[in-house]
Amino acid sequence: MSADPLEIYLEERDLARALREDVRTGLTARPKWLPPKWFYDARGSELFEEITRLPEYYPTRTERAILAAHADEIAALTDAKTLIELGSGSSEKTRLLLDAFTRHGGLGTFVPLDVSISALRQSTAEIAAAYPGLRVRGIVGDFTHQLDRLPTGGSRLVAFLGGTIGNLLPAERADFLRGMRTALEAGDWLLLGVDLVKDPARLVPAYDDSAGVTAEFNRNVLEVVNRELGADFDPSAFEHVALWDPEREWIEMRLRACRPSRVRVLDLEVDFAEGEEMRTEVSAKFRPAGIAAELAGADFLVRCCWSDEENLFAVLLAQAG
Ligand code: SAH
Ligand code: AVI
Repeated sequence: MSADPLEIYLEERDLARALREDVRTGLTARPKWLPPKWFYDARGSELFEEITRLPEYYPTRTERAILAAHADEIAALTDAKTLIELGSGSSEKTRLLLDAFTRHGGLGTFVPLDVSISALRQSTAEIAAAYPGLRVRGIVGDFTHQLDRLPTGGSRLVAFLGGTIGNLLPAERADFLRGMRTALEAGDWLLLGVDLVKDPARLVPAYDDSAGVTAEFNRNVLEVVNRELGADFDPSAFEHVALWDPEREWIEMRLRACRPSRVRVLDLEVDFAEGEEMRTEVSAKFRPAGIAAELAGADFLVRCCWSDEENLFAVLLAQAG
């Protein structure tokens, strides 16, 4: 079966408007910041895939191993008819779930949702070809605003993998979980991948790899702003910074200006002092009890929590109350 045409809830003009608003808000704030969702144009999505294969970046391969060990149990417990995936990217690990549902039977529809149209085009075509009995309905949308557009009815499993929930700020995360619960019926399921708090000596290199791929991913956001808004950032004038914040228990990625510069974007002239840092991403790390409490606060009951031998990463299966 070929994939259904992509359902586009975020048109080019909506994306352009949202980017303009974020750039205006973030670049006039002190300290300056940009939201991480703008990393993922076609180049950024490719760079992210490259990151997932780096020796230092343990989350993807660890989550894949957890899913491989428990996918059949997930299919049996949830008996879902529709699998929805938020921030689906390449959906590469999701194939483990699709394989398990194929063995279990009953899954009719797969609905990947992502802000990146290039990632979705490729993943929906590949998945439809690999799983001929499955209906594949890709949605171009924003999981922080458009959860009300998810398909309704049948028993649903929403997968939010990779630790992407950690890229939301705490207030955004609480809003997201509440919105998710509102979008689901009692008894529907949420499968959540979270990266765990660990020694910074392991964490920091995962966000500052020796090959410099994460640095390129980080600077790519400036290329996106240049291309989409006609800004004149010189990406080579910014260096990549990744640091661990022990109080907030998150990794923060920043871009540090190597020299003073003035950037023209929209109707703004934005000055960067030498050494000034702009936040481009937080990647929160979790403790199992903490994320279970956050889920409970949004009326999700954790039924299973699986981890790896080193307790690097966890996958939680929760049910809407
Ligand atoms: N789930 C995949 C990809 C993670 S990368 C994995 O585990 O490997 C994060 C993905 O989330 C990217 O594909 C990015 O385009 C998407 N994304 C980021 N912010 C988003 C938002 N607000 N709404 C929808 N998708 C978003
Ligand atoms: C998508 N997300 C979970 C990644 C992370 O680890 O926070 C994005 C990323 N940023 C730098 N490397 C990977």
